[in-house]
Amino acid sequence: MNIHHPENKRKVPSALRCLDGTEVRTAEEWRRKRCPEILKMFREEEYGLLPDLKNMKVEIRLVDSRRNQTFMEGQAIRQTVEVEAVRNGRHFIFCFTVFIPAGAENPVPAFVTVVNRGIKDSDPCRHFMSPFYPAEMIVARGYACAAFRTQEIAPDYEEGFTTGFHRLFPEYVKNRPKNAWGAIAAWAWAASRIMDYFVEDPLIDDSRVAVVGHSRGGKTALWAAAQDERFAMAVSSCAGNSGDAISRGPKGHSETIADITGRFPYWFAENYRKYAGQENRLPFDQHMLIALIAPRHVYTTSRSFDIWADPAGQFEALIQATPVFELLGVPGLMTFEYPHSEQPLHEGHIAYHRKTGNHDMDEYDWNQFMDYFDRFVR
Ligand code: GCU
Repeated sequence: MNIHHPENKRKVPSALRCLDGTEVRTAEEWRRKRCPEILKMFREEEYGLLPDLKNMKVEIRLVDSRRNQTFMEGQAIRQTVEVEAVRNGRHFIFCFTVFIPAGAENPVPAFVTVVNRGIKDSDPCRHFMSPFYPAEMIVARGYACAAFRTQEIAPDYEEGFTTGFHRLFPEYVKNRPKNAWGAIAAWAWAASRIMDYFVEDPLIDDSRVAVVGHSRGGKTALWAAAQDERFAMAVSSCAGNSGDAISRGPKGHSETIADITGRFPYWFAENYRKYAGQENRLPFDQHMLIALIAPRHVYTTSRSFDIWADPAGQFEALIQATPVFELLGVPGLMTFEYPHSEQPLHEGHIAYHRKTGNHDMDEYDWNQFMDYFDRFVR
């Protein structure tokens, strides 16, 4: 496959040049050398390194499975699943709900949604319906969907790493190493536990699972898929800074590393703060997060008025990640021209759309994600 050399508008380090200066020329070199090197940088410098999990026992239990007229008019099976992690006598539990189209003849593809909002946007009882997570619509299109709420995994406020997942590791509260994990890494860990469950669930086709999230949830979805190759696709809605937007370059009214680490320091490793106002010193940039998912599928979105997320920087990351996809033998982004709103780009292994409006994810986005997923996984 022909490999593009796109113009490097924001002067990002090349995804295909190793830290020792050598160029990556083969898929094998990417897998063996450059990919692990990039993963390590994101772990050490941005999202943080999870603690050693070998003393942690994780049990995943199906606690309820039913089909009932009171939700989705009987069109879905609802499974309630509990994940319990135990370490040195300390417990941590979270639950998630899966809806599976009833009566499907074969295992179905699925979406795992990282919900950074409350119960009204992910109601397991379906009393509240929300365009943010239109489970009825997803099921009607033949997909299963699972959702978990970030707040159940690790709190989305600064509390000193003592609750949720963090409470299993009390030795990390004082003198926390500068490369220790932040909330995004814990949320991504939870997404992979749902994948563990899907591997065992005969109703789900675990080779066709996408992880989806919006904004901070989108950053999480990308980081989850970057580390866990079992996800066939990552979908990130309006993720922006420290997600799918390039950190370098002119920012105008868009978010910077200083903004994000100022307001949400606990999302990241402490190391990340040293790049506030010093973006050019980063040994990587966010296009490499996209590249880590190659040759699988990545779908990112912007909203036309969501300047905070830096739509131009989001698109630029996709452009700069494309050579890696091509090296691995699949097309990345098929056009480097910024598309109009409501004109989705669905041709390559990198998909993108911009929609008119403000920072959000809704049914329009979901229909696009499924149109795209249909094409590649059905
Ligand atoms: C804030 C934050 C963004 C984040 C967003 C969200 O605006 O600055 O980085 O993406 O919240 O999660 O909605």
